[in-house]
Amino acid sequence: MLTQNLPEYWEDLYKAKKDAWWDTGKTSPILEEFFKHPSCPKTGRVLVPGAGRGYDAAAWAARGHETLAVDFSGTAYTALTALSEKQRKLSVLNIDLFELSPKSTEPFDIIYEYCCFNSIHPGRRDEYFEVWDKMLTPNGIVVAAFYPIIRSTSLEGPPHPTSEGELMARLDGVFDMAEKIIPKKSLKDRAGKEEIWILKKAQH
Ligand SMILES: C[S@@+](CC[C@H](N)C(=O)[O-])C[C@H]1O[C@@H](n2cnc3c(N)ncnc32)[C@H](O)[C@@H]1O
Repeated sequence: MLTQNLPEYWEDLYKAKKDAWWDTGKTSPILEEFFKHPSCPKTGRVLVPGAGRGYDAAAWAARGHETLAVDFSGTAYTALTALSEKQRKLSVLNIDLFELSPKSTEPFDIIYEYCCFNSIHPGRRDEYFEVWDKMLTPNGIVVAAFYPIIRSTSLEGPPHPTSEGELMARLDGVFDMAEKIIPKKSLKDRAGKEEIWILKKAQH
């Protein structure tokens, strides 16, 4: 059976045009809002795991950040490659993000998360946080837009829901939440269900 752990699962959704829940065809409004926030870093290399067609990754690059967009779907990669040809600060990797390693790719100052955490099988969430941890510089930050944060008794998805309690439990000892930002410019169906958490490596 195809699960969301496999690129074919995502490829099938792209090919069947079932990408409407995430692909809005433009930069996320909450990212544009975040760019104006005082906590948004002005410099630093950015990693965007599960970048999709890359509107947000390209927006970071257009802002002047060297940006690496990672996605294992062929359709996403083709779109990302086309963007990177126009945007010289954007580069692209067509691999499973769980294969990212600081041995082959320098760690990043910023990891930008939006609709990748909720796409990964919930059983791999700790593993995903380990990827952030190893791919982040010691003083780096994760800009994580978590959606949907809701009270739910089901983990069905994607998008798989999460909750503040789950996040605090999983992040404990790995990342500290430095700041929580409630976006004002969420897409209509995401309003009130998403938060941007700024995470820093836990101080031991
Ligand atoms: C729901 S889409 C979100 C895309 C983008 N972040 C956005 O907000 O528009 C999830 C993307 O993550 C990619 N993806 C899921 N699991 C992945 C993995 N393990 N490695 C690389 N890419 C992955 C999928 O191919 C898909 O393009």
